Amino acid sequence: MGSLVRFLFTLAAAVGAAALLAASLRRRVPPPGLPAQPVPSSHMAGRNRSFVLWLHGLGDSGPANEPIRNFFSAPEFRLTKWSFPSAPRSPVSCNSRWFCDAVVVRYPRATHERYESGVLKAVENVHAMIDKEVADGIHPDNIFVCGFSQGGALTLASVLLYPKKLGGGAVFSGWVPFGSSVTERISPEARKTPILWSHGMADRTVLFEAGQAGPPFLQSAGVSCEFKAYPDLGHSLSKEELIYLESWIRSRLNASQEKDS
Ligand SMILES: *[C@@H]1O[C@H](CO)[C@@H](O)[C@H](O)[C@H]1NC(C)=O
Ligand SMILES: *[C@@H]1O[C@H](CO)[C@@H](O)[C@H](O)[C@H]1NC(C)=O
Repeated sequence: MGSLVRFLFTLAAAVGAAALLAASLRRRVPPPGLPAQPVPSSHMAGRNRSFVLWLHGLGDSGPANEPIRNFFSAPEFRLTKWSFPSAPRSPVSCNSRWFCDAVVVRYPRATHERYESGVLKAVENVHAMIDKEVADGIHPDNIFVCGFSQGGALTLASVLLYPKKLGGGAVFSGWVPFGSSVTERISPEARKTPILWSHGMADRTVLFEAGQAGPPFLQSAGVSCEFKAYPDLGHSLSKEELIYLESWIRSRLNASQEKDS
């Protein structure tokens, strides 16, 4: 069982396998129990004070995840701008994907470097989305990036490689898609960005043990990371995770956000 201490990051070569995985991710996100209607957004006069960016998983789409914002009905989110972008389509698999066509993380190693160059390119696009909101006047402390699976892996790389401290990064069923050469590039400011990592203990696509190995690795790089394990949860999002995310973000929103002009 030497393989237990190694990790395998497999590009599923068979189109059938990729399609199967994508179909299963699509079926599972958003989870059952999500309210169907989006909460009316705040179209009040004045600009938004906070920004939440949600990065979907492989083969999914941004609009399919918009019901997630229904969990954020507290008054603190009245002036929050949401963004649910869709990943570009792969010319290979035709799936929407941020940096690779199919991923199965089956062995419990902390870091997964195989697609690192693709990840770094995708990070530039996420940084452009963040920079646009900062240019529009949203304080970086009130910017949160969240993502599921491949979107979670991209979330982690994006917030840690952003030059400034952000409000937070929330990773669901994700992994660390880079190695220590990237960790060395994390700025002292970005190290202060809090990370929330949620993972289902019954996840067989991105193995729970691989997720669990991520936070200690990040902590050794000086990043603060909270890990939440969800028993019986497979490779999907749960209502419980989103309820916790709401309180996690709410407690980190800069309290002065509605007072400064
Ligand atoms: C504020 O955010 C909402 C919801 O995302 C959006 O519809 C609205 O256009 C934003 N307002 C401004 C002024 O950017
Ligand atoms: C809150 O945001 C203001 C600017 O909007 C900033 O000057 C201040 O340092 C922030 N406070 C905290 C506690 O992050």
